[in-house]
Amino acid sequence: MLNRRNLLKAGAVTGAAAVFPWDRVTGGGSASATSSAVEVAAAVPFDHAMPVPPVLSRTSATATSDLYEIRMREAEVEIVKGLKSKVRTYNGTFPGPTIQAQSGREVVVRQINELSVNTAVHLHGGHVRSEHDGLPMDVIAPGAERTYRYPNKQRASSLWYHDHAHHLEDTNVYMGMAGLYLLSDREDQYLPLPKGSYDVPLVIREALVEANGNLLYTRPSDCSNVLVNGKERPYFQVAARKYRLRIYNASVNRYIKLRFADGSPFTQIASDGGLLEAPVEQTELVMLGGERVEVVVDFSRYGVGKSIVLENTGARPNERPEVMRFDVVRRAIDFSWVPGRLSYIPPLPKATVERDFELRTFPAMTINNKAYDPNRVDVQTKLGTTEIWNVKNMEAPAAPGAHDFHLWHSFHTHLTFFRVLERNGQPAGVRDSGLKDTVTLGPNENVKIAMTWGPYAGQYLFHCHQLGHSSGGQMGRIDVVE
Ligand code: C2O
Ligand code: CU
Repeated sequence: MLNRRNLLKAGAVTGAAAVFPWDRVTGGGSASATSSAVEVAAAVPFDHAMPVPPVLSRTSATATSDLYEIRMREAEVEIVKGLKSKVRTYNGTFPGPTIQAQSGREVVVRQINELSVNTAVHLHGGHVRSEHDGLPMDVIAPGAERTYRYPNKQRASSLWYHDHAHHLEDTNVYMGMAGLYLLSDREDQYLPLPKGSYDVPLVIREALVEANGNLLYTRPSDCSNVLVNGKERPYFQVAARKYRLRIYNASVNRYIKLRFADGSPFTQIASDGGLLEAPVEQTELVMLGGERVEVVVDFSRYGVGKSIVLENTGARPNERPEVMRFDVVRRAIDFSWVPGRLSYIPPLPKATVERDFELRTFPAMTINNKAYDPNRVDVQTKLGTTEIWNVKNMEAPAAPGAHDFHLWHSFHTHLTFFRVLERNGQPAGVRDSGLKDTVTLGPNENVKIAMTWGPYAGQYLFHCHQLGHSSGGQMGRIDVVE
């Protein structure tokens, strides 16, 4: 049997020219090591009850702000039943504690780095000033701390905070540095959607847990564990009624294609940037790292005593498709419903600038053939400019049967939400509805997106949210100037 150290030696032959981050982590050149070289923990699906990440209590408050404190530290958690895994956490929980924010009230988070690596905390989807954006070079060194301010002058949406330290964001996030930030507002609260314990986040991600419990950062095709809220393929007991599920793909390097095993539809009500104007019916969700989709599912269609499995049709042929199981265990009254009209999204002003972006995996992780350089300004625009960005995935599809996670890209912009106008030359469909901050591009795909740059001037980023790609250089700098 090969242990991890032997694996490093075993992986002497490199297949692809590109240096993937997991090659960096494992010492380089592991691209030809076979999956069987790692002893994967024997995980039985539906062994764990799914927890809901704990809500963080504020340490103090002023008339206008809520103050929080988070210690970034190592912890041991149980991902696979019976095994201890060492992870990097916010406050010891995996995923991190949930911050509940209210539109119009500022959130101030004091982040204390008790880890032995650099960190930078980014609020994904947050409209914040550049110095509070967690830029890759703006790191918190081990032993240091930093206070981030989030104005929350934006509509309700399911955001998340995660690490963004230069060249480390993939490893740090993979090892656990991600948590939810649920921003609410009056519009969202007054809608008759499921609330309280019937409003549940599902943070889905890939992982590879070894037989000894070690959480190994490795090639996405070898990450056959699926975690929901930090547990390997859990079950969740629900009442026979409607639930609002906030689905996150918090994977570092993998897409997920979600459907219920019986193929039944669910109602999408929100995407990255909050509520859609009107709900849409979906039967499958294709989500790449960073994306969020909120759905309402009515479990009353399955009787008490029934179970329904959520599957990933994007699982590899050698992997189990199950993601989690919902067990309908009781009846409950339900006054919630999904109105035909959810919200209003004002039209964008006419775009005055158009730009093209090409994303490549080979020969290296680049945008427009350039790897990220924090000292190079890739795009400069004036505050308030509305732009159209044509984003293209330059990689051709993989041969049938081959894994293709590294050929997909997940294009993400900081500071602002965008709309997807077109996908592959056609008007955007339901899958790209609403306000987005991350959009999935399969091999050969292209999208046309539009956004207004603001509300703040300063230095920001756009990048692929396959974090192995961004940390490998697939990232650019945008300076918004007054
Ligand atoms: Cu969620 Cu720049 O990232
Ligand atoms: Cu990418």
